[in-house]
Amino acid sequence: MPAFHVATPARSYDVIVENGLARRVAAYLPVGCGKIFVVSTNDVFHHVGAAMREALREVPHELLILPGGEASKRLAPLESVAEQMIELGADRTSVVLAFGGGIVTDMAGFLAAIFMRGIPVIQIPTTLLAQVDAAIGGKTGVNLESGKNLIGSFHQPLAVLVDPELLATLPPREFRAGLFEVIKSGVIASPTLFDLLEQQRDAVLRRDRDTLEWIIAECVRIKAEVVSADEREMGLRKTLNFGHTVGHALEAETGYNRFLHGEAVAFGMIAATHLAQLTDHAPAPVAARIEALVHAYGPIPDRNGLDPASLQRRLLSDKKTLRGHVHFVLPTAIGATKIVKDVDPALVHQAIEYALG
Ligand SMILES: NC(=O)c1ccc[n+]([C@@H]2O[C@H](COP(=O)([O-])OP(=O)(O)OC[C@H]3O[C@@H](n4cnc5c(N)ncnc54)[C@H](O)[C@@H]3O)[C@@H](O)[C@H]2O)c1
Ligand SMILES: [Zn+2]
Repeated sequence: MPAFHVATPARSYDVIVENGLARRVAAYLPVGCGKIFVVSTNDVFHHVGAAMREALREVPHELLILPGGEASKRLAPLESVAEQMIELGADRTSVVLAFGGGIVTDMAGFLAAIFMRGIPVIQIPTTLLAQVDAAIGGKTGVNLESGKNLIGSFHQPLAVLVDPELLATLPPREFRAGLFEVIKSGVIASPTLFDLLEQQRDAVLRRDRDTLEWIIAECVRIKAEVVSADEREMGLRKTLNFGHTVGHALEAETGYNRFLHGEAVAFGMIAATHLAQLTDHAPAPVAARIEALVHAYGPIPDRNGLDPASLQRRLLSDKKTLRGHVHFVLPTAIGATKIVKDVDPALVHQAIEYALG
């Protein structure tokens, strides 16, 4: 069973990747812990709740339901869930099991971070995006009216239990959006993963059990290593933002409701890869391979009517833009990137135009 260790100054823990793991959650509860609170949404529980019910059939627990959806990823639902926890007898020994996609892992993680100044959380992600990314690394939080993830905290989990079998019911569009983040991991850190995605496209898209378990484990290995080296995103963790500089601009420009996050990242990877080629960071054959792989797992939804200049202006208002410097993660080879700032705006414009197609 592949287990990947995350070591941060705050906490060390394992991310375990194994088919069927969700049904064995009880084995990972801390000895002598207090009440168990499963935090999820109705939609997630409708699709995969049976695994959790089976896992906890002999463990007393309470189920708390969050509203779900990016528009509801706000502070208010957490306050009412926290009130429910108090009514149900929660105390500092209670443990949160965050069971859902990235919305739930971010919200339930933040709930655990602030409930009675912090209680433990075990992450059990149920979307591909959450399994390879959101549930690992301790970033938790909610949105403000003014922007995404603007309130939050680092709260490392006790463990992350990744069960690829939970993905069987994931809608195809959500699955493919997660695969774009998998491609990202290949580009930044794993030629082996990149090759597999090129060669085994059909097995990946059909969600072949062993193939899926392998690619998820490889992404988890990469994220665990990066987070262990750089919890607070001072350096190496920034490489995970490949495709995200322009991707975030596209999400903001379209009100977060036209593209899924992974789809926006796919767009951003095309732009960043072209920019890498224009600035002589990536040789043309490398850029061509990355682009072809993104398109092989496409399509990226229709980009009609988007204005490159307006998208480019968004880059400056991104949370990750520091003191007016826009940073790009540019691929230099398959499995290697360079962080570059202050790129010629004319070339950025050209790259965005290119990605708009
Ligand atoms: N903390 C981090 O490091 C980090 C990293 C990346 C993304 N995120 C956050 O993650 C969020 C997006 O997460 P997401 O893409 O997982 O979206 P999501 O949580 O909204 O899930 C997508 C959809 O899939 C459904 N779903 C979940 N699991 C399912 C299953 N097994 N079967 C069928 N349907 C299922 C959900 O109900 C939802 O409708 C964003 O808010 C983003 O900010 C956080
Ligand atoms: Zn992402």
